[in-house]
Amino acid sequence: MSTLKRTHTCGQLRGKDVKSTVTLSGWASSIRDHGGLIFIDLRDRYGVTQVVFNPDRGKEFFELAQQLRPEYVIAVQGQVAARPFGTSNPNLATGEIEVYVDTLDLLNKSETPPFDIVDDNNVSLELRLKHRYLDLRRPLMQRRLTFHHKICQTIREYLDRLNFVDIETPVLTKSTPEGARDYLVPSRVNLGKFYALPQSPQLFKQILMVAGYDRYFQIVRCFRDEDLRAQRQPEFTQMDMEMSFVDENDIIQVIEGLMATIFERVLEKKVTVPFPRISYDEAMTSYGCDAPDLRFGLKIKNVSDIIQKSEFKVFLETLKSGGLVRGINAVGCGHYSRKDIDDLTAFVAQFGAKGLAWFKVEDSGLTSSIAKFFPAETLQKLQAYMEAKKGDLLLFVADKPKVVNQSLAQLRLHLGHKNKLIDTTVFNFSWVVDFPLFDYNEDMKRYEALHHPFTSPHPKDLPLMEEKPLDVKARAYDLVLNGVELGGGSIRIHTPEIQKRVFRLLGIDDESAHKKFGFLLDALKYGAPPHGGIALGVDRMVTLLLQLDDIREVIAFPKTQKATCLMTEAPSEVDPQQLKELGIRTL
Ligand code: AMO
Ligand code: AMP
Repeated sequence: MSTLKRTHTCGQLRGKDVKSTVTLSGWASSIRDHGGLIFIDLRDRYGVTQVVFNPDRGKEFFELAQQLRPEYVIAVQGQVAARPFGTSNPNLATGEIEVYVDTLDLLNKSETPPFDIVDDNNVSLELRLKHRYLDLRRPLMQRRLTFHHKICQTIREYLDRLNFVDIETPVLTKSTPEGARDYLVPSRVNLGKFYALPQSPQLFKQILMVAGYDRYFQIVRCFRDEDLRAQRQPEFTQMDMEMSFVDENDIIQVIEGLMATIFERVLEKKVTVPFPRISYDEAMTSYGCDAPDLRFGLKIKNVSDIIQKSEFKVFLETLKSGGLVRGINAVGCGHYSRKDIDDLTAFVAQFGAKGLAWFKVEDSGLTSSIAKFFPAETLQKLQAYMEAKKGDLLLFVADKPKVVNQSLAQLRLHLGHKNKLIDTTVFNFSWVVDFPLFDYNEDMKRYEALHHPFTSPHPKDLPLMEEKPLDVKARAYDLVLNGVELGGGSIRIHTPEIQKRVFRLLGIDDESAHKKFGFLLDALKYGAPPHGGIALGVDRMVTLLLQLDDIREVIAFPKTQKATCLMTEAPSEVDPQQLKELGIRTL
């Protein structure tokens, strides 16, 4: 057993500590044998200290030091010395000093790690995830997880100050519809019955409002079995909150205050509040999506009216069948080659666009292989409406609204990145408001809740609910940061009557509503206060604040795109006896 107990961390010693006797412990990182002396960078999560072994200070320990390899765990006792003139390292917090070792304790050996424990090691994500304990040992990852922790601490402190109460909600529960599939857990003591892991604590937090808790929050794990993309994980963390006796502005203000506090305390930056608000309609029309990146222009414009005066069949037929023609002025891209445009056409094809019509702006006006189908007057109108100047490139997609919006939204982002129009150093927050309450699912031929079924319709739209459901606006709001949805919330329905009306429109009749959400409908009967809330994706927030692309860079033990954990190899087969006890037979 080691007799050495650390007195300092590896990030702590400075010039003022010279001559003191200290004990440090950590991992041997870089090991340099310089003839008579051995230099080791000793690392722990606080930093790195150079320790020096000199055979004159003790042969026994020098010989032991010769056996040290990267990632061996050691404790050393020695004397702090100023580094010789000209050898101090200004890049290291402890760079003025080094420790001359008198005693060495080898606490544990390490096999040669499959990759170097350094910040930029260019290792595949697969290998990093398989040996996550080594990956997380890298200072870069330690800084990220510590940053994550600081964000959560700041959230807790801020909300505690505002009288919010942190209340835990069950993980083994009933399904709440948030739009994804549930993860199910079989019940051994109730054979044939299942718990669902919560997609969010939505219903419990509403119930807590009915119970009078007034201001609830939780930093909570949510589970969704959905197709994974860079910003999604099957289990992720929400900063979830709910308030009673409030309207939209109260929730928005609390969140703006929270973001300002996080920026001030953790990032030491200022963020301007209030954040701009943009309506869902404006977001869809000008940016093609409900989480627009407002850091750059290239707005989408609707030219359906203008191009009616043309003979271009693709456009005319699209309009006839109820579609749209919209486009972007790719400012300054008039020099694009045929190949460049073909590449953009292939790019939008991924989102269903059947083509990409283009016009270059030259001295003579708009030119294109399809210009012959457009009268001169239409071309002039098009140029003026698109605010196009010489050297610009106009790009149009004609299709069903969904395809037009999706392909142009992506094309806009693609051009923004390609042409470096996005200032990646800024944090651009906005609220998207005035969402529709319902969306129509063409494939399933039914209405769906755009947020979730507990979102309150706008009171003035209540009379439209049954006749014109798609015109009903929701009291919902999304927080968007740099084009990513950071959070979403709403004022909720707090009477059983309206809740039932919404369920009916969603095709949930009274009987199945009772079966699925009877407890909520019951609770709403017993004096539910008006209430509302929001949930922010914590992992997403941390990813964006650190200006990273992949949510897995800030989660300690994330899953792959196939929802597997490469370290534990979950999910895995289980003992047949376990299945038997659960009454489950696999295929
Ligand atoms: P919503 O479903 O919009 O709202 O989720 C809130 C926020 O959680 C984050 N998020 C995710 N992060 C990582 N991986 C995922 N798979 C994932 N899914 C969602 C997003 C999102 O904005 N109960 C409501 C909130 C409310 O109405 O109060 C809810 O869960 O950042
Ligand atoms: P075509 O008539 O197929 O030779 O197409 C002529 C031009 O129109 C090409 O530049 C196509 O990319 C473009 N185009 C074809 N279909 C569409 C569409 N749905 N929307 C926009 N442009 C299209």
